[in-house]
Amino acid sequence: MTATIINGREIAKELRNTIKGEIQNLTKKYHKDILVVTVVIGEDPSSEMYLKLRSSACEEVGIKSKILRYPRDISEPTILRQIHDLNNDSMVHGIFIQYPVPPHLSPTTLMKTVAPHKDVEGFHPENLGRTMIGDEKLIPCTPLSVLTILKHAQIELQGKDVVIVNHSNVVGKPLVALLLNRNATVCVTHVFTGDLKGHTRKADILITGAGIQNLITKDHIKEKAVVIDIGIIPTKDGVRGDVDFNSVKEKASIITPVPGGVGPVTIANALSNMVITYKMCMEKDV
Ligand SMILES: NC(=O)c1ccc[n+]([C@@H]2O[C@H](COP(=O)([O-])OP(=O)(O)OC[C@H]3O[C@@H](n4cnc5c(N)ncnc54)[C@H](OP(=O)(O)O)[C@@H]3O)[C@@H](O)[C@H]2O)c1
Repeated sequence: MTATIINGREIAKELRNTIKGEIQNLTKKYHKDILVVTVVIGEDPSSEMYLKLRSSACEEVGIKSKILRYPRDISEPTILRQIHDLNNDSMVHGIFIQYPVPPHLSPTTLMKTVAPHKDVEGFHPENLGRTMIGDEKLIPCTPLSVLTILKHAQIELQGKDVVIVNHSNVVGKPLVALLLNRNATVCVTHVFTGDLKGHTRKADILITGAGIQNLITKDHIKEKAVVIDIGIIPTKDGVRGDVDFNSVKEKASIITPVPGGVGPVTIANALSNMVITYKMCMEKDV
């Protein structure tokens, strides 16, 4: 059996079309363009690809985007002041911080500083807390794209055994909450997990985002599992994921490729979060 291969680019295109229509209606209603600002601190070559893809996705759906670049050695109080200024600027409706940031800056402090109603990435503790208690509003874009893909593939989550390989604050932990909110049984693995294969082989749905090429082979999955690969690993042959795609696709029922799987859907979901922050800004008038 060969798995059905999810076409993330097609799903993203459909999402962008829907979002474009919604934005036309909203900007007509509020007579104000949507402006989203990305804060970039220092230079990180791996971030440039995301910046470019996000800017062109914004342009396609009618969102204005601006990149503010700051030097690598900017002090924490200075960058926090800049974020506060963006929070208070009524022309700005969404804020991204481009991670990773230089090591003298605390990602947690930066995440806490972005106003919750402008927090496009859903990383503010208020938004993560809402996700945790099932009062979902601004959901982190990558976990949200996993849900989007599963829904698109008509995969029922209730009662399913789901294994996640990743326990980061921005991917694995929000995913746990989202899956529990939908009555899946969830197991989370990470670098200290003793017997990774022992867990992953039990999964009806395996979601992996370790950032290690070929971490997941066909021996790691059970027959007909759904396999979602979040990993993005730059290689000399282009980007690859965590999954040994060619062998796993012969055993799985549904699989996402890298590239062309989760990545494009994540960018499209960032646009849908921008629509949410815009609406919140308009309702609050800030
Ligand atoms: N497709 C997308 O749209 C998208 C979006 C964001 C990120 N990504 C990609 O997703 C991956 C993860 O991103 P992230 O920001 O969450 O990175 P991260 O913070 O480095 O998280 C990696 C996770 O994988 C776990 N891990 C690492 N090696 C492992 C192993 N051998 N066995 C089991 N677990 C292992 C880590 O465990 P410990 O915490 O214990 O080390 C950690 O929980 C990266 O490849 C990133 O480029 C993709």
